[in-house]
Amino acid sequence: MTRTILLTSFAISLCVELFSFNWAAAQEIQKYKHAAVVCAHPEAARVGVAIIKDGGNAVDAAIAVQFALAVVYPNAGNIGGGGFMMYRSKTGESDALDYRETAPGKASRDMYLDAKGNPVIDKSLLGALASGVPGSVDGMVKAHNKYGKLKWKKDIQPAIDLAEKGFAVTAQQAAELNRHKADFLKYNSKPVAFVKEAVWKEGDLLKQPQLAATLKLIRDKGRAGFYEGPVAAAIVAAMAHTQGIISEQDLKEYKSVWRKPVSGSYQNYTVISMPPPSSGGIALLTMLKQVGNYPLSRWGFQQDSTVQLMVEVERRAYADRASYLGDPDFFKVPQTALLDTNYIQSRIKGLSFEKATLSTDVKPGVLPGYESEQTTHYSIVDAEGNAVSATTTLNGSYGSLVVVDGAGFILNNEMDDFSVKPGSPNMYGLIGGEANSIYAGKRMLSSMTPTIIEKDGKLLMVVGTPGGSTIITSVFQTVLNVLAFGQGMQAAVAAPRFHHQWLPDDVTVEKGAIAPAARAHLQVKGYTFKERGSIGRVDAILVRPDGELETGADPRGNDTASGF
Ligand code: GLY
Repeated sequence: MTRTILLTSFAISLCVELFSFNWAAAQEIQKYKHAAVVCAHPEAARVGVAIIKDGGNAVDAAIAVQFALAVVYPNAGNIGGGGFMMYRSKTGESDALDYRETAPGKASRDMYLDAKGNPVIDKSLLGALASGVPGSVDGMVKAHNKYGKLKWKKDIQPAIDLAEKGFAVTAQQAAELNRHKADFLKYNSKPVAFVKEAVWKEGDLLKQPQLAATLKLIRDKGRAGFYEGPVAAAIVAAMAHTQGIISEQDLKEYKSVWRKPVSGSYQNYTVISMPPPSSGGIALLTMLKQVGNYPLSRWGFQQDSTVQLMVEVERRAYADRASYLGDPDFFKVPQTALLDTNYIQSRIKGLSFEKATLSTDVKPGVLPGYESEQTTHYSIVDAEGNAVSATTTLNGSYGSLVVVDGAGFILNNEMDDFSVKPGSPNMYGLIGGEANSIYAGKRMLSSMTPTIIEKDGKLLMVVGTPGGSTIITSVFQTVLNVLAFGQGMQAAVAAPRFHHQWLPDDVTVEKGAIAPAARAHLQVKGYTFKERGSIGRVDAILVRPDGELETGADPRGNDTASGF
């Protein structure tokens, strides 16, 4: 089996949950007058809304949701991972927080290669050697210092209560915990809260006393409660079992970073998204600009020409991603050139609607003057109109599978998001180049695309999703479902999705995506389709013309909207 096939099936097994839901129920509209929170777990959504009702703003709610997800959604919610947060104030200022993990100080370019120079698959995926230095706690502290309104302790307390008193696992969670039992036993030498002798059943209480103790230290000492003292010592001790390399110094030196968002227009909408080390913002803007001159709504939702154009712009965006995108603190990302209108249009010049372009014929573009699934997303609008769009991740489901003994949280396996070997695919089949090679202290390239859209200077949409390499295309499609095809937020989120990422040269599709006649036409033109389980779990909020907040909670998971 090739690395691509093996890794792709691994990624799918990690990221895909059963794709079965009641289509009519999945499109039921939920609206709120004042504030809304949409995220991957009902308990975390409840916590976020309670914080806003207590006078908190969107950032307070985001902090509470981030920590609550670390308890109630341990396969992606985290304090042992990282993420990106987009913020837009009620008066229209926007900001981007990068709390992505970094490569440990002892990391090196070829650390996941064998003696012959070939990638060793498990090394960058499983066990502590796969972990980057976690960024989530520092990120939440930074977000609170700049924008929080409530006391830090108040924002974190609900997560402590959930960890201490326990919460009832959903049917989906029970199945996932049972499926991963052997993995947890393999990668941990001490008992972990996620493993019990009997099988997990829906409604069973999951209590996490060690995690509660860690959260209390973070509550009382802020970042020092995590990056120094007993928790830092426990992280370093956890390295021993599977040859990890995170040191106390790495933890002490970790810093999240405020960055300038990328923004651009799609027709008369303004799209604000995450800059590098996310590839998502630039790719999303590029694709929206390319389709913006075509009559998508006349062609029709998921019809022949619409799908063809979207696939072709996705193909080109991912080819550019592989070469030009990486951590801007280590690699000179040609951001201005990539977002230049002439360059963007030149990428689809000569596009033929008669036949499929071959990915082998698509190379990264030539830039003028120029010498790169298991994640989770939450969207929040507070009672004043401030908005947060945040995506956070451990990378694979339950990350590295290493639970820090004594501290009760899971470490990420984000190192696989680097180009382990330039030109070789990662877990998601993504190819990368030198821009995304491993270097101590560097951030691995991400696809996470937390996004905010404005119309006429006013907040219109808050959107994002997990899904590894499919994140960017899922956001792209959801945005177009609303802006080009006039769908409501819930319908846009529920609609079946498709995805192309340059290599491999296939269109992956969810069941029901792309009208059968359109698919037949496209096959004749040379497109190949591969069906798979669910793609992404988009959680989004749309501000309707009457000011009400219409939510979109992805029916593919236990995603939940709440508000008042
Ligand atoms: N770990 C998935 C991403 O950041 O793209």
